[in-house]
Amino acid sequence: MPRTSSVIAGVWVVVLAASYQIYFRPLLAKFGVGRVITPVGNTDCTTIPELKACEKIVLHQPTGVIYLACSTPESRTHWTPAVDRLNAAGMSTTDYVATFDPKTSKITKLSIAGYTSGRGLALHGMDVVPSASDANELFVYLVNHRRPLDASAVGADSVIEIFRTSIGSSTLTHVKTVEDPVIDTPNDVVGYSDGKSFHFTNDHGSKSGFLRTIELFDISRASVGYCHIDEGCKIAVANMHANNGIAKAPQNDTIYVANCNRGGVTILEKQLDNTLVRTDTIATDYPLDNLAVDENGALWAAGIPDALTTVFTHFQNPSIPAPSAGLRITLNFGPGSFYGEKYKVDKVFEDDGTLASGVTTVVYDSQRKRLFLNGLASPQLVICKA
Ligand SMILES: *[C@@H]1O[C@H](CO)[C@@H](O)[C@H](O)[C@H]1NC(C)=O
Repeated sequence: MPRTSSVIAGVWVVVLAASYQIYFRPLLAKFGVGRVITPVGNTDCTTIPELKACEKIVLHQPTGVIYLACSTPESRTHWTPAVDRLNAAGMSTTDYVATFDPKTSKITKLSIAGYTSGRGLALHGMDVVPSASDANELFVYLVNHRRPLDASAVGADSVIEIFRTSIGSSTLTHVKTVEDPVIDTPNDVVGYSDGKSFHFTNDHGSKSGFLRTIELFDISRASVGYCHIDEGCKIAVANMHANNGIAKAPQNDTIYVANCNRGGVTILEKQLDNTLVRTDTIATDYPLDNLAVDENGALWAAGIPDALTTVFTHFQNPSIPAPSAGLRITLNFGPGSFYGEKYKVDKVFEDDGTLASGVTTVVYDSQRKRLFLNGLASPQLVICKA
């Protein structure tokens, strides 16, 4: 008879080996372990090294001008609350929104008017939306990860800022700082054309703590929140996992949320009370960062081919490249649709990081056939014919 202790040890070995095979191996594969990078769409491109560390790009479709929420690669290594980089002493004081016009290659760093809090801008997600009453006026919604006033607090004192501007203007005029306990770990935002309301993702269930740390292992504490500046904020849908980018279909009330851990997109429908109901999911091989819907209704996603390199190497030292990918998700009208493949996921762009490093935002101008890519700590804006 074997001793009880060695039986228990043997059982543990079997349990650990099984959980590795069943759980951790697929997870590590999703994070890029063993993935082979197969370049596509990365040969007919130009680069704009003046525009670095732009976590989010939004296209203004009528003019073809893009808006970018930018920082410096160096400061991102200190202050990126979404990935627990919380050294406020190293945070940037020069974050900015820029416009870039591909027709003229003109870069405009927008100046800020009327923002008097003195608490600065630490930029992350963004949306730019034409006003319902005047298509020339634009509302700019920005996630702002302020440093906490109380130095002993762990995590950012995050808010969502609303600015307004107009087409061709070089100024952002402050409208409102929206602060609320529901805006806890904001990542990205979808703004509405009233200039007063938005949905946003919380990427975790808390700013710090043990539960936040283990969310990685399929613990669903992320959410989407809704705010209206006259009515306050509320949770629109809870118990989501690894929320990242959020986008809205241009013509209806469908909202898409990306998962940056297991990959995939959750499709939600906005209800009359602005809560969201999950209606479908689309699986992807790659963890996803930001999303964008093009004019034809195709959904674009920044895919993360090698998440371990992106998070642990590139975010630590942005000069070390991380592979990047751009995925296009469309309704499947091909033969596969008969067999339940409702959506088609195409890898339109992939690069080992030499050209496009650490990309977190992929946006397509379908009229002008231009693909724009940038990232949280990326060294440059990349523009490819696609
Ligand atoms: C909403 O529009 C998108 C295209 O932007 C389409 O794919 C989707 O099916 C529409 N949703 C509904 C509920 O009609």
